[in-house]
Amino acid sequence: MSLTLKPRNSVRAKISSVGSYVPPRLLTNADLAKMVSTSDEWITERTGIRERHIVDKGVASSDLGVEAAKICLARRGIDPSEIEVIIVATVTPDMAFPATACLVQNKLGVPHAWGFDLSAACSGFPYALQVGAKLVESGAHKKVLVIGADVMSSIIDYTDRSTCIIFGDGAGAVLLEPCEGDELGLIDYFHEIDGSGAPVLNMPAGGSLLPPSHATVDAKQHFVHQDGAAVYKFAVRKMSENAEILLTRNGLTGADLGCFIPHQANKRIILSTAERLGLPEDRVIINIDRYGNTTAGTIPLAMNTALEEGRLKKGDLVLLASVGAGFTAATTLLRWEF
Ligand code: UT7
Repeated sequence: MSLTLKPRNSVRAKISSVGSYVPPRLLTNADLAKMVSTSDEWITERTGIRERHIVDKGVASSDLGVEAAKICLARRGIDPSEIEVIIVATVTPDMAFPATACLVQNKLGVPHAWGFDLSAACSGFPYALQVGAKLVESGAHKKVLVIGADVMSSIIDYTDRSTCIIFGDGAGAVLLEPCEGDELGLIDYFHEIDGSGAPVLNMPAGGSLLPPSHATVDAKQHFVHQDGAAVYKFAVRKMSENAEILLTRNGLTGADLGCFIPHQANKRIILSTAERLGLPEDRVIINIDRYGNTTAGTIPLAMNTALEEGRLKKGDLVLLASVGAGFTAATTLLRWEF
């Protein structure tokens, strides 16, 4: 079981800005119905997805991350030169190395920063957020850029109807800064990994276990493989269980939340979690209909949606929650700062 201690530092980290970006090209359910045996009705009913955005050839995760970061920094009115650390959560790095964070640093024109990539699939963004927050809370850094970016279309088999309907490409970025006082900012988290879930959601080849070969390509092992029903079952249980743990130990219930920003994997998973937490639908942010599952991109994309729709206000108690490949699970509690 993972860490259960609440932060006791005097300095808190806050999210001081958000930006998100999706590539312009749309892949609709109708498009997919021409490629595999599926229908708009099936996809909408089972997942809530209507369309997703897909990159053009040559556009990579760093490009989406840079665009999201530019919007995030512009919204805060600061120059890239002020960034001290860049953390990129992704399972689709531009290449195995160097880290996507290095490519973002160079493209964004950040002169003095360090950074790295973090791989935790759909929980990548909240994990990166927590690592960034610790760097701020420790007093080591004052401006940390956290990006969630994935080009899922680069690892999807567009002849496999069970996976190709779900995923899209996109990125989001937030800026973390020290918080004045201890009323706002990141409050607590409960994260958990369970490697027994590895067989039900993975990309088998391309790593040290199965390096790329003609055989791995022929066997389609460089694509996402998923036992959807097994992941669904785990996600529905874990998202609500972990959220309950986090809320209870902070003396809260779902009724105290102003906004629930979940990972966007399936609308039914989101609504079932909200129901178990006793949360009315109007406090749940859902944009999966427009973007599909963008893996590390979903939570900052949804945060941006919440902000632009005026559903996120200063002082709101916000819960983030995700489950992803690994398994990885994340729940984060914060008070919105701006
Ligand atoms: O973020 C990463 C974590 N991933 C997730 O959270 C994904 C969680 N899982 C899911 O969202 C759902 O399991 C899926 C959307 C992937 C699948 O929905 P489901 O309701 O669990 O469907 P199923 O896999 O149990 O399949 C039911 C039927 C099957 O047909 P039979 O065997 O009953 O005849 C499938 O072959 O639906 C069929 N099917 C499809 N039919 C039309 C599967 N995919 C499709 C499709 N179009 N695209």
